[in-house]
Amino acid sequence: MCGIAGYIGKKPAQNIVLDCLKKLEYRGYDSAGVGYLLNKGLYTVKVTGGVDNLKQALQKNATPASVMIGHTRWATHGKVCTKNAHPQISENKKIAVVHNGIIENFLQLKQTLYLDGINLVSDTDTEVIPNLIMQKLKGKAYTIKNVLNALNKVLPMLKGSFALCILIDNLNCLFIATKFSPLVIGKTNTGVMVASDIVGLPQKAQVYKLKDNTLGLVFKDGFKCYNFNLEPVILQKLDVKNNGLDTDINGFSSFMEKEINQSPSALLNTAQNILYNNALSYIPKNAIESAKTFFICACGTALHAGRVLGYLLQKYCGIFCVVDYASEFRYKNNFLDKHSFCIFISQSGETADTLGCLELAKQSGAFCLGITNVYTSRISNMVDYCLFTSAGTENSVASTKAYIAQLCSAFLLTEWISKVLGKNIDYSYKDLLDVALCLKEDYYLKLQPVVNAIKDLQSLYILGRDIDYITAQEGALKIKEVSYIHCEAMPLGELKHGSLALFNNTTYAIVLLTQKELTQKVISNIIEMQSRGAHIILITSQKVDIVVDFCIYINNKKDVFSPFVATKVLQQLALLLAKQKNLNVDKPRNLAKSVTVE
Ligand code: F6R
Repeated sequence: MCGIAGYIGKKPAQNIVLDCLKKLEYRGYDSAGVGYLLNKGLYTVKVTGGVDNLKQALQKNATPASVMIGHTRWATHGKVCTKNAHPQISENKKIAVVHNGIIENFLQLKQTLYLDGINLVSDTDTEVIPNLIMQKLKGKAYTIKNVLNALNKVLPMLKGSFALCILIDNLNCLFIATKFSPLVIGKTNTGVMVASDIVGLPQKAQVYKLKDNTLGLVFKDGFKCYNFNLEPVILQKLDVKNNGLDTDINGFSSFMEKEINQSPSALLNTAQNILYNNALSYIPKNAIESAKTFFICACGTALHAGRVLGYLLQKYCGIFCVVDYASEFRYKNNFLDKHSFCIFISQSGETADTLGCLELAKQSGAFCLGITNVYTSRISNMVDYCLFTSAGTENSVASTKAYIAQLCSAFLLTEWISKVLGKNIDYSYKDLLDVALCLKEDYYLKLQPVVNAIKDLQSLYILGRDIDYITAQEGALKIKEVSYIHCEAMPLGELKHGSLALFNNTTYAIVLLTQKELTQKVISNIIEMQSRGAHIILITSQKVDIVVDFCIYINNKKDVFSPFVATKVLQQLALLLAKQKNLNVDKPRNLAKSVTVE
C-alpha cells in the first residue's frame, strides 16, 4: 500500500507532487509528506492525515523547488505520527526515501545499524534504507555514480517488497528502485514524474512501467534504468490512452454512492466488452478440458466474487473447485500442477497476496486466468490470459460496482465453460441484461427505517443458505468496513451449532432468502431466532407468509442471479449506516484501496 510520487523538471514541483499524491490517496491516507532539494539543502515536510493536510502545511511556506518526492501512507510499521510519516531520512540528513512495500528483515537490519552506532528514530521498516545507503557511502563523495553503486549494494540486503524514490542532498536527480511493488515513470513537456500508479500521472504523459528488480535514475529530461547487476534495461512505452481517473463525484454524496449507482452500467459494459470481443473464446479449450481441479484465489470482495464463481462452476459444470483466501492459499500444501486451472480475481490487479498465489501457480505450470479491472496491472500482465471487467475506475475504498462487474464475468465464464464441456445451463447472457434493469432500483427509502433501528448497534448478523451465504459474507464486509458495526455472516443452518446461544431480544439478524427451494428451511430458522427474541430484517425475493420486523422485497429475475440485487441492497444499507453516523464512507479508517503488501 502507500503511494509514492516524485518530480524533477522545469516547473516548481510542489503542486505537481501534491496533485499526484491526491490521486494516489486510495493507497493510504494515514499520513503524508514530501522531501525536496532547495539551495543545496534537503528539506522535508510531514503531517498526519491526508494530502489536504499536507497541502495546508505547504501553503504556509510554498517552495519553488523543482525536485521533490512525496508519499501518502497506509501505516504498516509504527503508529500514525509525523515521526513515522515518509520521507524517512538518514542520520546525516542527506538521504530521503519514500517507500511502498514492506522490508521484512528490518529488525535485523536495524540491529546491524545500531551496532554500527547509527541511531534510528522512527518505528518504520523504511528508515533502514536511507541509513544503509549512508553507510555504504561512508568516506565516499555523494556523486551519482557512488550513490548508484551504494544503492545496488543495499537493495539485495532488503527482504520483502519495495518501490522506492530517493533524494540525495545536492544531487539533481531522483533515484528509484522496485521489487514486487509497482512504479511508473511519466515523461511530460516540463519534466519527468514517478508514481505508484498511472492514475497519478498527467493525462498526456508518456508512460513507462518499471519491471521488478530494476533501479534507475530520473533526470529533468529523461531516465536511465538498470537491473541489479547494473546492466542497462530498456523500458517499453505503455500505450495508455486514458489514465482512467474519474474524479468527479457528479452530485452524489460520496464516490461509494455514485459507484453503487453505476452498477447497472458496470454490468452491461462488462458483458458487452466480453461478448463483443469474443474474449472468452481466447481461453484455450484444452486448458479447460484437461483441467483436473479449478482453483480460485482472491482477497476480500474479489474473493466473494470468486466464491460465486466456484458455486456456479460446481452447480453447472460439475467441476471440482477450490476457492480460498489468497493470503491462506499461498502458504498451504496447494496441490497445484500443470493440470490445474487457476483463476485470480482482483479489481486493482495489484493485490500482493493474489499476486503471490499467481506466482506459485505459474511455477507449477498451471493455466492462469485473471479477472481484473485494470489493463496495465501486474496480475493482468502476468496471467496466461486476462478477462477484463469494465467497471470503470473505482474511487471509493469499498468495492461496489467492481463486485457487480466481477459477478457478471463469473456468470459469463461459467456459461462459456459449460459450453466447452458440453453441459447444460439454464441461463444465458441475455438474462444479464434483465438483471441490469433490476439493478436500477434503489432501496434507500425502504432501508431508512432499518437504519434507524440498527445504527447504534455494536454487532449484527447476516445469515443465509446456499448462494445467499456468499452474499451475506459480502454484505457483512461492506457493513463492517464503512459503518464500523461488527457484522458476522453465517450460514443459517450453522446457527444452532453454537451461535444461537448469543441470541436474545437485543439481537438483530439480517436474513437473506432468495432461493425458492430453501424457503421453508429459512422460515424455520427465522422462527427459531424469533423464539429467542431476535429482531429479523428479511431481504427476500420469495413470497413468504411470516411476520418479521422489516421486510425488503427484491426482484432478481431468476434465483441464481440473487447476488447482484441482494448485494446492492446491502451496499446501500452499509452506505446509509455510515452516512447516518457521519463517517467518511469513501475513506474508511485503517484501510486502503489497493493492498500491495502481505
Ligand atoms: C472491500 C474491498 C476489498 C478488496 C480486496 C481485494 O470493499 O474493496 O476487500 O476487494 O482488498 O482487492 P482487489 O480486488 O483489488 O484485489
